Amino acid sequence: MKQLRVPGPTPCPEEVLKAMGRQMMNHRGPEFAKILNNVTDKLKQLFQTKNDLFLLTGSGTGGLEAAVVNTMSPGDKVLSVSIGVFGDRFATIAEKFGAEVTRLSFEWGKAADPDAVRQALKADPAIKTVLVTHNETSTGVTNDLAAISPVVKEAGKLLVVDAISSLGSIDLPVDKWHCDVTVTGSQKGWMVPPGLAMVSVSPEGWEANKKAKMPRFYWDFGKAKSYLAEKGETPWTPVVSVFFALEVALDMMLKEGMANIFARHARLAKATREGVKALGLPPFAEEGHASNTVTSVAAAGGLDIKKMRKILNEEYGVVLAGGQQKLDGKIFRIGHLGWVNDGDIKEVLAAIKKVLPQAGFRSS
Ligand SMILES: Cc1ncc(COP(=O)(O)O)c(C=O)c1O
Repeated sequence: MKQLRVPGPTPCPEEVLKAMGRQMMNHRGPEFAKILNNVTDKLKQLFQTKNDLFLLTGSGTGGLEAAVVNTMSPGDKVLSVSIGVFGDRFATIAEKFGAEVTRLSFEWGKAADPDAVRQALKADPAIKTVLVTHNETSTGVTNDLAAISPVVKEAGKLLVVDAISSLGSIDLPVDKWHCDVTVTGSQKGWMVPPGLAMVSVSPEGWEANKKAKMPRFYWDFGKAKSYLAEKGETPWTPVVSVFFALEVALDMMLKEGMANIFARHARLAKATREGVKALGLPPFAEEGHASNTVTSVAAAGGLDIKKMRKILNEEYGVVLAGGQQKLDGKIFRIGHLGWVNDGDIKEVLAAIKKVLPQAGFRSS
């Protein structure tokens, strides 16, 4: 088995894989309704929310698009707080559907500055909505959402959060931090395959939804809400096998306990950062904001990242991610979210240590 350590898709436990192999069932029958209600309730616990929550069949990007088209109208002013590839993508989605987006971008590798968010909102009181990435997977940086949220909410704006690679792995109390729409994706910390976007919607999110005029059909929160409440169904055919998987994975997560899950991710992230530093490689993320789900590492000492990843994959079965866009060839990323333990991290670090000299690295 490969040591799959990209920041999603993540490995699935045996029990989860077994559940995936179950025979199909009628997605408009009582058995599926039971599963849908069960996973919705359990996800609400892990989102730490009493808000509505929907499971949308699609990838995380679909969830982001759903968040945009269900809360905005063409011409609406939106502030995008971006610290990397996925923050930029969120802004682009809103632009494509006609929002007037002000991009507040920060240097890649750094977290967003809550004061800069405050200034940007002051500078344009017509802004209605703020888009924030909680955990920027492309740079391995976690934003201080606990500090950004009050800035957004005190200014009376809608807070829409991409928590795709954080929810379920890093503490994100959705209600306490007043996140109006929060999106995550099944292939990240949830220990199940890709195929589901999970989205919560607050009462303020629904207020925005009433006025939102962006075109939508597949991603319609109103339809998701009425089908769930009235029939225990999703509007469209869901990715049934991933629901089977999620039922099992959520039980495993609740058994481990949220506090333990967050502590495990924090511990493994720290071990990863310390491990790469000990090898002479500099972490890419700003200190104090390094992610607990993905560690980004800068190239140094002549290291050829592509060569290193190739050898790791072919000779050691260790699969790491490279850098995206302008970070291609400049960083590599180690995913440590979901089904991962101390032994996995040790194995990954040991393999990197062996491969570094073959990939041109010379420690200074
Ligand atoms: C923070 C973040 N946002 C958005 C996405 C896009 O999700 P997907 O690839 O499932 O569409 C990802 C996936 O890597 C992500 O990590």
